[in-house]
Amino acid sequence: MATQPISRTIERIVRGVPTSDGAGVKLTRVLTQDLQRRLDPFLMLDAFGSDKPDEYIAGFPDHPHRGFETVTYMLEGQLRHRDNHGGEGVLAPGGVQWMTAGRGIVHSEFPEQDHGMMAGFQLWLNLAGKDKMCDPGYRDLPVGTIPVVTTAAGVTVKVIAGETQGTVGAMTRATTEPIYLDIHLPGGAEFEQRLPQDHNAFIYVYEGAVTVGDPNGTGANAPRPAQNGEMGILANTKGAAGVVIRSKAPARLLLIAGRPLGEPIAQYGPFVMNTQDELRQAVTDYQTGRF
Ligand code: CO
Repeated sequence: MATQPISRTIERIVRGVPTSDGAGVKLTRVLTQDLQRRLDPFLMLDAFGSDKPDEYIAGFPDHPHRGFETVTYMLEGQLRHRDNHGGEGVLAPGGVQWMTAGRGIVHSEFPEQDHGMMAGFQLWLNLAGKDKMCDPGYRDLPVGTIPVVTTAAGVTVKVIAGETQGTVGAMTRATTEPIYLDIHLPGGAEFEQRLPQDHNAFIYVYEGAVTVGDPNGTGANAPRPAQNGEMGILANTKGAAGVVIRSKAPARLLLIAGRPLGEPIAQYGPFVMNTQDELRQAVTDYQTGRF
């Protein structure tokens, strides 16, 4: 009898692409457009981190979004957000802003500092076709409102979305059921997360290195390493209950998973819809001030 695999393994390692966005903010695009189908419902992940004001000070002047959600997670520094529906807030270290663009929002994001470190992530999470034209809105989740779990092995997990070890995260979303965890492993630790088999999942290591996979796995199920700055796409291993992550030295990573929508993805810059017609409508609506 074949043994049931315990953990998914890393199917592919991806290194981000250096780019700039907004008015010239330097960032690394980790999840690029060519991975949208494979990592459905996730559309993009950007990592930013710089202590050079030149690389972030220009910020992101007014720009629109339609058809998906943006999740901004600050590690260091402060960003002020303003939108055309009267929303405003300051994102501080450890905090998250969960914005549902729905049928349309125009917003800006500017650094609330002129020196020091600015670091964090922005994830784009798709909306199902039936939800793309929903009312826009956002939620600020300051650091104190995001549950943190510490396991017996000393692993601390910030539960931004979804559930881990019986703790429900700050956000729960129907349809895409995202799991978004920020995991800090001390040296020599192991962490296990359950994942529905059909959900697409990936990790992004931003400090140290980890090994992912069944500790006793061999061949295709052998554990594989991921280093600082690498995204590991997790295989949808048949029968695997989740993922096992281990560290030799202290490491930090994001673990992100969600239920694929299985719908056509049509993207034109900050608009993500199902069809080209819907994209043309989005451009017209934006240009005629209907956001
Ligand atoms: Co934006």
